[in-house]
Amino acid sequence: MQSETARRHVGVPVLIKVNANWCNLLDTLASCLDAGANGVTAIDSIGPALRVDVEMGQPLLGSFAWLPGEAIRPVALRVEAEICLAYQVPVIGTGGVSRAENVVEMIMAGATVVGVHTAPLLSGLGWLERRSTSSRAGWGNAAMLT
Ligand SMILES: Cc1cc2nc3c(=O)[nH]c(=O)nc-3n(C[C@H](O)[C@H](O)[C@H](O)COP(=O)(O)O)c2cc1C
Repeated sequence: MQSETARRHVGVPVLIKVNANWCNLLDTLASCLDAGANGVTAIDSIGPALRVDVEMGQPLLGSFAWLPGEAIRPVALRVEAEICLAYQVPVIGTGGVSRAENVVEMIMAGATVVGVHTAPLLSGLGWLERRSTSSRAGWGNAAMLT
């Protein structure tokens, strides 16, 4: 089991990153937690997905691709809530967070902290700096780059 091996070899918390595609997500997660994982990151991007360039008649991104960002937030929230209802573990809520309201929604669904990837990817790392200095409500502490 990978989480057991990781737990034995590193001195930092071991987090399991889950994908909403897993059909037996909660059972798999239970095995990872039993093996020593300390928490969960939920969720990874969703896919494989497809967009078609209708002018060219070709896949928009060259092939099948993974879907992150705004479109996956409702799925991320559902997965995160399922995990939090089943297990008392720290959860990094990740998927489609780009605004303070999204952070609040994630926290309300059970996240311990919130992760972002696409938003700073699209807007540049200055996006993180602006968020951490513009809010006294702790956005800077609650958000992390995943
Ligand atoms: C370009 C890109 C590369 C990614 N690479 C990884 C990766 O190597 N490993 C991983 O666990 N997740 C990876 N992810 C998933 C993100 O860490 C994150 O879980 C997911 O995109 C949902 O968050 P977001 O909507 O804020 O992007 C990647 C996402 C994007 C957009």
